[in-house]
Amino acid sequence: MAKSVKQKNKQTYETSRIVDYYSQLNQLQPAEAAILKLFASDWHKMKMLDLGVGGGRTTSHFAPLVQEYIGVDYSLPMIKACHKKFKVDFPNVFFQVADARKLVQFADNTFDFILFSFNGLDYVDHSDRLKILYEINRVAKTGSFFFFSSHNLTAITQAFTSKKQLNLNPLKTYTNLFMLGLLKIFNRQVNLELLENSQHLMIRDESHNFKLNTYYVKAQEQLQQLSFGFENIEIYSWQGNEPIKDSQDLAWQNDMWLYYLCRTKK
Ligand SMILES: C[S@@+](CC[C@H](N)C(=O)[O-])C[C@H]1O[C@@H](n2cnc3c(N)ncnc32)[C@H](O)[C@@H]1O
Repeated sequence: MAKSVKQKNKQTYETSRIVDYYSQLNQLQPAEAAILKLFASDWHKMKMLDLGVGGGRTTSHFAPLVQEYIGVDYSLPMIKACHKKFKVDFPNVFFQVADARKLVQFADNTFDFILFSFNGLDYVDHSDRLKILYEINRVAKTGSFFFFSSHNLTAITQAFTSKKQLNLNPLKTYTNLFMLGLLKIFNRQVNLELLENSQHLMIRDESHNFKLNTYYVKAQEQLQQLSFGFENIEIYSWQGNEPIKDSQDLAWQNDMWLYYLCRTKK
């Protein structure tokens, strides 16, 4: 299972149709826009690593602001697409093929801000996820920032519940139940009991036609995973207006993705 997760997800991100899809994306997600604003007066001092840069959706927003910007991805076609898209515009911008599990080309204590956007961290299995978090912590400067989003296991539980698919619009109910059927076919081992009792699970969801194995995690477990080397962790919902303060609110957060802003421990 672990081997196929690694290979299949990477293969999917090398497929030309999927590379084309990510290359034409340009808009920031609301929580990302909130972070862009939050550090408005600091960007010019920052050396930034954009992990899993994909087709460069975030590049045009961050690269012009920071001192130096390096976008990396383990998919060579994604990096080629970035080179094509940002040929001439920014002299302080670099793209490289690199796997977040082993960032051997970067020394310890290199970056001021590390981004792993659009849930890029979720396409490896549990042990590789932990490896990535340690690599990020190693290449990040002390007291620097790491911002990423991740799939919320609490929210997907609803997608597996038949009752939650009912809607006043019969067409919507039909579509929801059809999607639930597909979800169950692609995830035969997953049931409500497993979802409730797990802290994290690999799930094949509908993104890219159920091709990807995606890591879903409960917020408390994510905080636990980060605790070895990060502090002051703030969690944002999709809208990203304010960090979620209340632990009760967090437990009930039904956004499919949550955003984590963390600081490397001093
Ligand atoms: C959902 S896409 C997001 C792309 C881009 N960040 C964006 O927001 O549009 C996830 C990206 O992460 C990359 N990725 C996944 N696992 C990776 C890893 N271990 N090392 C480097 N890149 C990885 C994939 O190749 C893909 O381009």
